Amino acid sequence: MSKLSLRDLDVRGKRVLVRVDFNVPIEEPDRKIDITDDTRIRESLPTINYLRERDAKTILMSHFGRPKGKRVEKYSLRPIGDHLHSLINHPVIFSTDTIGAIPEGIIAHMNAADVALLENLRFQPGEEANDPKFAEALAKLGDVYVNDAFGAAHRAHASTAGIPKFVAHSAMGFLMEKELKYLHEELDEPVQPFVVIMGGAKVSDKIGVLKALTEKANTILIGGAMANTFFQAQGIPIGASRVEGDKLDLANDLVDLARKRGVKFLLPVDVLEAQEIRAGAPVRNTSRLSRQHGINNGWQAVDIGSATIALYREEIAKAKTILWNGPVGIFEIPDFAEGTIAIAEALAQSSATTIIGGGDSVTAVKQAGLADKMTFISTGGGASLELLEGRELPGVAALTEKT
Ligand code: 3PG
Repeated sequence: MSKLSLRDLDVRGKRVLVRVDFNVPIEEPDRKIDITDDTRIRESLPTINYLRERDAKTILMSHFGRPKGKRVEKYSLRPIGDHLHSLINHPVIFSTDTIGAIPEGIIAHMNAADVALLENLRFQPGEEANDPKFAEALAKLGDVYVNDAFGAAHRAHASTAGIPKFVAHSAMGFLMEKELKYLHEELDEPVQPFVVIMGGAKVSDKIGVLKALTEKANTILIGGAMANTFFQAQGIPIGASRVEGDKLDLANDLVDLARKRGVKFLLPVDVLEAQEIRAGAPVRNTSRLSRQHGINNGWQAVDIGSATIALYREEIAKAKTILWNGPVGIFEIPDFAEGTIAIAEALAQSSATTIIGGGDSVTAVKQAGLADKMTFISTGGGASLELLEGRELPGVAALTEKT
């Protein structure tokens, strides 16, 4: 990873175009937007503050939601700009357009250390199409370009992969740098034992990552609904559990690959089964799973069971590096959250480097109040998975090489 960093750029007094990922979760009570988790905004503050301290004019750009190339009022970035204002204690000038006379006029009147935010890039079809004309028009707004939007780095869009072609220098922001340090550098040659906990609903979403991780991990612990696909592939009855029936061969291939590479690949030895997916539904812990004793007819797996929790805790305690991606049960329903919370607690108690690889496991760690006990929590969803899979991220590849 030999890309320029913001630290390598002379930004003093310059117009600095910064791609951030302000695609934050929201609720819309009475048509007023409430940001339910502002982590992505807060995590961009080191870059924004650094630029302000150097009297740069910071021009922020982001996408928000999926408005598909049209102006959709509920996806306006204006409320996000207001929130940023309160975080940096400095006005954030909002540009209702992304390119052309409106942002150009605003930027021409910016003072040193001012911050402007452009309207949602995805209101323009040129953004997702990676239209060079749109990228060039955006590039014109700044002197240098910084990409701090790790969460969007797997998208080859105008503001991520396009702009660098039209500016002399483009660099990583501090959040981008931090994400790559943990998810790429640390995990390239992880301190062993390296334990991976992989959960979530579908094997198909994680197949690439799991394959790549069998090259590095000593132990892989499987949880979540995707465990059912492995169970069925091994002839263990799964009752009414959710399964990807067309992915059984894939599941068996993965187990074989892990075995060949000497990776300890563990499936849950028992599960919590429920009659329905709702709070208050009858639940019980299965006995030890085998071909003879599976999940019961009409019941479905909703969490890992108590023997599995104990087993996974033991494995986690041995680790020096831990990567966790995906909850091991339907943790949104408190009755089914025990396994996921237990994993979060085991990580919090561990002295290993603990990396939370984005998505729902991040929400789980936060819900458990254990976020500050983790070494690193990624702000990426799809971007983290693609990086862990070993794929090149277009938003990183486009940046200027360090010479
Ligand atoms: C995300 O939330 O994962 C990123 O902001 C990318 O959003 P997208 O999946 O809509 O491209």
